[in-house]
Amino acid sequence: MHFLTTPAMSTFYSCISNAVLLFALLPNTDGYFLQLLTECRYTSEDLHDIEFLSRQIFNKLEFARYNSTLNKYIGYTEHGVNNAERWNADPAVLARQLSNLDVCKHNTALYWENMLKKTVEPSIEIISASPASSKHPAMLVCAVYDFYPKGIKVTWLRDGQEVTSDVTSTEELSNGDWYYQLHSHLEYTPRSGETISCKVEHGSLPQGKVVTWDPSMPEAERNKVIIGASALVLGLIITIAGVVYYKKKSTGRILVPSS
Ligand SMILES: *[C@@H]1O[C@H](CO)[C@@H](O)[C@H](O)[C@H]1NC(C)=O
Repeated sequence: MHFLTTPAMSTFYSCISNAVLLFALLPNTDGYFLQLLTECRYTSEDLHDIEFLSRQIFNKLEFARYNSTLNKYIGYTEHGVNNAERWNADPAVLARQLSNLDVCKHNTALYWENMLKKTVEPSIEIISASPASSKHPAMLVCAVYDFYPKGIKVTWLRDGQEVTSDVTSTEELSNGDWYYQLHSHLEYTPRSGETISCKVEHGSLPQGKVVTWDPSMPEAERNKVIIGASALVLGLIITIAGVVYYKKKSTGRILVPSS
């Protein structure tokens, strides 16, 4: 499954740079806000529909816009229309704006290569939790952390069969650091001997990944047991070594002749 190479046509990727000019002409809080927003817009990696836009915004109102597809300015207010007319009459102005489309193409190709194409595999963990409703006595949560980019499918399997009922899931939540997380809940009535798994499909996992729930012991408990057992073995070794050493020493002492 490749989510990246087939984005929905409605998805616009854009790279926006924003120049803000703030005129504090009046004392205190009043001022004027002029923004110049330049944008490279495209829907797919082949960049067949890439366009460069330069929007001029005064106090939140866009009054004029250059659109590279038209190679023209469009005015939206009286002031904008007047300016658009003047800029459109100057071939040098239009040529300069159109050359920004080449900058867009160059930068966007780099952006795809270095960012949009990158994928990061999530960590997947199944944990047991108390059910939200009283319909079933048990609930499992498949916690999927730190994947990139957005676009993931998480399903539950019971003995290899996909489960669709009593499954709820969060949205793909943004961590705010480029990564996303998602939590899928399965409410169920345990059957003996069954296997329950969580299947994750994502751009970073070409074959998908299946994690199986191990009901025997939660990992934290298992770790405690492992640490305890290791300490016990280590203690036994030291004790045996001590006893052997002591025996050797005491036999040695007996062998020393006394006169
Ligand atoms: C730019 O102009 C083209 C051609 O008219 C149009 O299809 C496109 O939607 C315009 N883009 C924006 C963001 O206004």
